[in-house]
Amino acid sequence: MDDYKKAADTIREKGYVVAFTGAGISVDSGIPTFRGGQGLWEKYDPMEYAHIGSFSRDPQKVWVMLREMAQVIFDSSPSPAHIALNELEQKGYLKAVITQNVDGLHQIAGNSSVIEYHGNHRRLVCMNCSKKIPFTPEVVGIMPYPNCEKCNSALKPDVVFFGEGIPMLAMVRANEEANKCKVMIIIGTSGVVYPAAEIPYTSKAMGATIIEINPESTPFTSSITDMFFKGSASDILPKILKNI
Ligand code: OAD
Ligand code: ZN
Repeated sequence: MDDYKKAADTIREKGYVVAFTGAGISVDSGIPTFRGGQGLWEKYDPMEYAHIGSFSRDPQKVWVMLREMAQVIFDSSPSPAHIALNELEQKGYLKAVITQNVDGLHQIAGNSSVIEYHGNHRRLVCMNCSKKIPFTPEVVGIMPYPNCEKCNSALKPDVVFFGEGIPMLAMVRANEEANKCKVMIIIGTSGVVYPAAEIPYTSKAMGATIIEINPESTPFTSSITDMFFKGSASDILPKILKNI
């Protein structure tokens, strides 16, 4: 039996599917990964630019990177892989997407239950009073960086920086879904950033079948993955969908 059909059969038979996604699913949306050759962390040292301490010390410096990232996100649109995940929800199998991505593309593709484990770059939060507002393209042009209209403190994209905790509700919901699912599809993540990377291990321990899609193998591949599809998410997910 071909592997796409086998994965599709597993999804149909087991029913409750959760996707766990990382930067790789957005490559074909025009957003480079963090750790690849073109990756953001090649250009900007994350400890210097994506640590909450750096932001508090020098928001102007960190906003140089944030502006660049925002522009890339505003210019992006859902990939065939995002669209396939929306179809999988429409067909009644996909119950939630747990994403480490901050690009908002799962929501734009139409998925209704998206758990933003690392926040969302399309929202801004005030470092002082926690007020949240949408991050619109017009904000990118505000120099040296946008301030809160209520208390005038620096605004920061509502994403999890190094040194910050995971949003409590996202953590609770992700654990719930990781425990419940019968199939977890891991897509485009290197699996090296914790606590996010714990999620698939939880699902496996609870008896879920693990399907993984990635051009490279990861720490999950040899430890918990049951079906590994080596390649691009935009190529492979639609092929699995065709068999459902
Ligand atoms: P990484 O950049 O660490 O890994 C991206 C993964 O995508 C790699 O395993 C690639 O092999 C894979 N990949 C590349 N192209 C692909 C394609 N076309 N289809 C499928 N997979 C592909 O990104 P993440 O694992 O998402 O955290 O990184 C996790 C976290 O580290 C991010 O959420 C971010 C970063 O620091 C925060 O911002 C808090
Ligand atoms: Zn404020």
